[in-house]
Formats: sequence, C-alpha cells, structure tokens
Amino acid sequence: MAPHDDQPQVNDDSIASESHGKPISNIVIFIAMHTEALALVNRFQLIEDHDSLFPEGVPWVRYHGMYKDLHINIVQPGKDPALGVDGVGTVSASLVTYAAIQSLKPDLIINAGTAGGFKAKGAAIGDVFLTSEVAFHDRRIPIPVFDLYGVGKRQAFSTPNILKELNLKIGRLSTGDSLDMSAQDEASITANDATIKDMEGAAVAYVAELLKVPVIFLKAVTDIVDGEKPTAEEFLQNLAAVTAALDEAVAKVVDFINGKCLTKL
Ligand code: ADE
Repeated sequence: MAPHDDQPQVNDDSIASESHGKPISNIVIFIAMHTEALALVNRFQLIEDHDSLFPEGVPWVRYHGMYKDLHINIVQPGKDPALGVDGVGTVSASLVTYAAIQSLKPDLIINAGTAGGFKAKGAAIGDVFLTSEVAFHDRRIPIPVFDLYGVGKRQAFSTPNILKELNLKIGRLSTGDSLDMSAQDEASITANDATIKDMEGAAVAYVAELLKVPVIFLKAVTDIVDGEKPTAEEFLQNLAAVTAALDEAVAKVVDFINGKCLTKL
C-alpha cells in the first residue's frame, strides 16, 4: 500500500544505520529566536557554552546539559552582529545546523520554532504541528530539474509513535526567507500543499540530509496567514503565549524520546 501522504516517511538508507539500534543519547534542537528557546533552556537547566565549539567571533549560541539520559544541545544563530536581532532565516539556519552536526554528532535534530498557519488547511493559533514534509517556496528556477532542486522537497524522519502518543497535528511545512507572503510565494505554498510556513525548516532539512542525521520539526502557529490581521502584528502579539505551547510540546517530545531508539519514535 502506498504510504499516506501526511505520514512522515524517511529513506532509511539516508540515516546512519548504527544509530537505529541503541537509545538516542545526544540531540540537537535548532531554534532560531532567543524568545522561542528561553523557556526550554530554563526547563532543562541548560548552561550556555562559553568555550564555544563554533568558530571564533560568530554570534552562534549553544546551551547544553543532561536531562534524564539525554545530552541536550539547543543551538541558535544568536544576534546579528550589526543589527542585534536574532539571525532568522535559511542562511543562518543552515550554517548553524552544519556546524552543530559537525562538532556534536547528534543522533537526532529537532527544529523547533514558530510558524504561520493556514486556517483553510486546519491551522489555528497555538497549534503545534509535527511536520511530515518540508519544501521551499521562494526558490523559483523555471528550468527542468532545477525547478525541483529549488523546491527542495524533503521528508521528515518518520515518528508515528510521537504523533500518536502526543496528539500533535501533522502537516506539510513550506519555508522561505520572508515573514510576509507574496502572490508568487502563495502559489508555491499551495503547490507544496503546506499547512504552515516558516523561515528555516527546509534549510535545516537540507543540511540534515547531506550529513545523514534524522530530523523532525515542531512548529507552533503564531499567526494565520490567510486571516485578516497583518502578519507581523499578529506574530508579535502571540509570540509569548505560543512559545509556551511550543515549550510544552518540545518537553513532551524530549520525554518521549528519552530511553528510546530511533526506530521506536
Ligand atoms: N514564523 C512565524 N510566523 C511566520 C510566518 N507567517 N511566515 C514565516 N515564518 C513565520
């Protein structure tokens, strides 16, 4: 039987097979914004790494510590050196994910963050989505095969037990470097059949696939893209409350992961 479209699938050949049989011990959680990460840093009592694994001078941040049997690392782009705002978007996301995988060799990556949601696809403010599939919506290259490369569709690691046990919503995620949505972006997001849109997911997936590390996505909805309110306003208005929902969901997923091997997720 063909797999259901919205069940996350994974090509097992793409993941280092030796990590499948033993319990997960080391996870990297990539979170783009400091506000989105703070509650988790406190919850897991993580400490900031001042003896950085990252190249000297970069603003990238790592918080780490043990929680139950897991070594947890939260990695972030940190503040843009010139402008002092969080380094959101695909460029920083791919660089930090690359550097974190190279130095920490995680068993699993979790990309946690906020997203815009489409009410026409069933999203509501505060929903936390587990993502089945990711793709880009702002890399239009209308030349055969380059078009597919631009869209960069990738599957999340399959976690049917997390989905069942934690009662999360599931949907496809579309990624682009803008908070707003142009008409062209909208057409691509529709073509991607996405329920949520963010600014990092597909970039994290690209790096994870290159370096053969399984990745899952937890995205909490701060704004309704096909609603009435201006996106930036709605995003800022809901950020704190929705971050609390994200924190709860990530904590439940981490508790579920503890002591399990990848194949039991
Ligand atoms: N993160 C939160 N809301 C978003 C949106 N509407 N688009 C992209 N990233 C987001």
